[in-house]
Amino acid sequence: MSSNSHHQNKQMTVPRFLGRKGKGPPLVVLTAYDAPTALAAEAGGVDALLVGDSLGNVLLGEPSTLTVTLEQMIHHARAVGRVRRRALLIVDMPWMSYHVSPEDALRNAARVVRDSGADAIKLEGGIKRVPAIRAILDAEIPVMGHIGLTPQSVLRMGGYRVQGREEAHADALVADARALAEVGVFAIVLEGVPEKLAARITESVEVPTIGIGAGLHCDGQVLVFHDLLGMSPEPAPKFVRRYAHIYEEQVAAIRRWVEDVRSGTFPADDETYH
Ligand code: KIV
Repeated sequence: MSSNSHHQNKQMTVPRFLGRKGKGPPLVVLTAYDAPTALAAEAGGVDALLVGDSLGNVLLGEPSTLTVTLEQMIHHARAVGRVRRRALLIVDMPWMSYHVSPEDALRNAARVVRDSGADAIKLEGGIKRVPAIRAILDAEIPVMGHIGLTPQSVLRMGGYRVQGREEAHADALVADARALAEVGVFAIVLEGVPEKLAARITESVEVPTIGIGAGLHCDGQVLVFHDLLGMSPEPAPKFVRRYAHIYEEQVAAIRRWVEDVRSGTFPADDETYH
């Protein structure tokens, strides 16, 4: 058995995920939003499934993640939780589910864990989120951090832009990462930051960093399921590598079926009950 397949066969847990800092192959995380995407991602061998609030954009056609509700996250996470076998299940906390107070954040995080079977929750932000994170950790719920280009900050950022290009901002992001690691998150997503900064953060913390648009020097990588598979007609962002072109394949298949129905060649005799 190769060391890679050995890593893939074990049940992934939060301590095992954390224990991969600086050891073994890079961690692989993929978003999943329902039973079919979770089944495919697990069959593909990922270490963790992330029910991302990107479901607002990817599944619901929203322009941002700001409209996503706790109920929607739980609805999708439950479907993923039903079929998940071995991968770690991480569920995003949506905007305003952890901003009001640490107590409110804890109550909402507990709902996600109870109702979906999540192993951990993820929330966006650095130092200013530490009180909410501490409350959630105190109730024994593991937390994944997320800094850099945090999509829930789109209004403040004025769009989806690479973060931390200026020195002062880069220093602030390193301080954010250190604060998150110190309070006890088990991993940190680094989104949309220059690779040099991602490498600096990765060296500065003792928890795995999982990059998306953050270059190669992270402890793992995460992508959005639909981006990886080319499930949208829109052009992909620079950091995405498309491993399939499912949108085009779907349209071509549907076109063939439409033609077959219109020409009277569907259903055939062996597709018919007699
Ligand atoms: O919502 C999401 O899918 C995410 C990943 C892109 C990290 O947060």
